[in-house]
Amino acid sequence: MTEQKATNIVWHEGDLGRDERWKSLGVKGATLWFTGLSGSGKSTVSAALEQALVLRRQPAYRLDGDNIRHGLNKNLGFTAADRVENIRRIGEVAKLFADSGCIALTAFISPYAADRAIVRKIHEEATLPFFEIFVDAPLAICEGRDPKGMYKKARAGLIKGFTGVDDPYEAPVTPELVLKTGDSAVKACVAQCLNLLEAQGLLGGGAR
Ligand code: ADX
Repeated sequence: MTEQKATNIVWHEGDLGRDERWKSLGVKGATLWFTGLSGSGKSTVSAALEQALVLRRQPAYRLDGDNIRHGLNKNLGFTAADRVENIRRIGEVAKLFADSGCIALTAFISPYAADRAIVRKIHEEATLPFFEIFVDAPLAICEGRDPKGMYKKARAGLIKGFTGVDDPYEAPVTPELVLKTGDSAVKACVAQCLNLLEAQGLLGGGAR
């Protein structure tokens, strides 16, 4: 667990509770945590889902590994320690988005099971819905797609410690949802996610 460095800080609770916020805004928050190999389709599916949700007037926001690493996490690389910190920060940010009544969609490889367990715990402790979604495409398919030419570079030794090539990916054992993006079209995967949210009563928000 990350050390608490600051001392002499006191949590300040506002007068507005989560229930009142969500009810008044007519929304419900949650985090959908997409995990999978580079090129598995995390960004594509989460972007399409984000659009589908927002067009239904459900606030949703995508936090995407490649994008977040241009800003908030620009000081992190791909060592094991940096990947841990990458996921920890995004777990905390997703929690804030979810608490605000937004559906946070995170698209990070998040290769280590222990880190995914930590972000789940962060949400559980905050009593916020959390769903792990395994974007399950075989390495051969991801490598065949290689949309950014990264696998090619990794195989040529130009990128060291690339997930799936010379760095591990620990597949989820009991995810809430598995998307077989090697076989299913993006639309079908989005429908699977919408069904999950619907079944959990997370679509349609509260009373406006
Ligand atoms: S994570 O492992 O820390 O969760 P994250 O999802 O943020 O990774 O970033 C992965 C993206 O960074 C990949 O899609 C790829 O474009 C790029 N990348 C660059 N170097 C690596 C690497 N060594 N391993 C994996 N992805 C890398």
